[in-house]
Amino acid sequence: MEKIQHDFPILSKEIKGKKIVYFDNACMSLKPRQVIEAMDEYYYEYPACAGRSHHKLGEIVTQKVKEARISIARFINANENEIIFTRNTTEGINLLANSFDFKAGDIVLATDKEHNSNLVPWQALVKKKGIKHQIIKSKEDGTFDLDSYNENINGVKLVAMVLTSNLDGTTIPAKEIIRTAHEHGALVFLDAAQGVAHQKVDVKDLDVDFLAFSGHKMLGPTGTGVFYAKHDLLETLEPFMVGGNTVEYSTYTDYKMLKAPEKFEAGLQDYAGIIGLVEAAKYIEIIGYDKIKEQELKLNSYITDVLRKWPKIKIIGPVDPALRSGVISFYIDGVDMHKFALMLDEMANVMIRSGQHCVHSWFNDKKIFNSARVSLYFYNTLDEADIFLKNLELILKIL
Ligand SMILES: Cc1ncc(COP(=O)(O)O)c(C=O)c1O
Repeated sequence: MEKIQHDFPILSKEIKGKKIVYFDNACMSLKPRQVIEAMDEYYYEYPACAGRSHHKLGEIVTQKVKEARISIARFINANENEIIFTRNTTEGINLLANSFDFKAGDIVLATDKEHNSNLVPWQALVKKKGIKHQIIKSKEDGTFDLDSYNENINGVKLVAMVLTSNLDGTTIPAKEIIRTAHEHGALVFLDAAQGVAHQKVDVKDLDVDFLAFSGHKMLGPTGTGVFYAKHDLLETLEPFMVGGNTVEYSTYTDYKMLKAPEKFEAGLQDYAGIIGLVEAAKYIEIIGYDKIKEQELKLNSYITDVLRKWPKIKIIGPVDPALRSGVISFYIDGVDMHKFALMLDEMANVMIRSGQHCVHSWFNDKKIFNSARVSLYFYNTLDEADIFLKNLELILKIL
């Protein structure tokens, strides 16, 4: 653990004489030195563009981006021509929503815990194209209701669901959902923003049609992401952003599109970010998902056990930490959890998230004002959990 923590430069820094306790990993993970160095190498050694310039620096970047596509494809068991580099999950979802040939009346089926990024693009299509957006309510404990899903899958065009919820950390039974969707002629998109950092995502094994994730939540550079689609489906999508490097040629009156993935990557890309993302994926693979899950569960169980001793603390989602990945979302009736989070930060550099976590729809429906969210990752320690819990106790006595 000491060696791992050493790889994350921010963890050896102090603010106002104290180390930081970073428990906001669902928003943004920390970056290991390997990722930062790979990005630096781009800026110091070959800060040129890819796919266009046939000089020495341009050739290096072209090669690096080609290798990055192969590497990221391998990371999720896809083919390289199925990987589109984006800025984030949100861009991937907008790409799908605006490139797929939706018709009025087409049904998009979601969970009741979608992040705004996997809700608003579909709501916009309800207004623009007259599609229907329908929701499967979770069970009382926050887990997925397969019975309700099976009853509502008939006639659906696209299932667009969050794989692992940023609200409560629950993961949907994706394989079963996808199998049933396909039996009923529906396609499936998974929002894997909180997925790839914590569990192996194998697109072939899942047989998922479309998937998106963000690099910055999985140790990667900020503003990096990936959109995946099965190649035959990708070719049927009409890019909604076109321009430089998306066409084979143009005349004053017409153009000829390149094939996927190029036709979806308009303009110069974040080459340093793409190169850094490869190192992030490598780092996760070296640590291994078993170890990641083990550490998250250890910390989640430890913290949950203490929180449960306070009757006024209400945990969102299942009580069992094994069903909540590295997430512990909780609230106290009558308490503004922003205030709680600010106090933790002020008193002990404990950094958590507070608010509605971009899942406003769920909070509005449940009439809950806001929550505090602790989101853990493999580099967090029991000592850090103790600092959090000690200060939580102090704050609860004040509030
Ligand atoms: C489940 C989920 N989906 C989508 C997003 C959006 O990710 P990004 O802001 O990187 O596009 C997030 C971000 O927190 C998320 O947690």
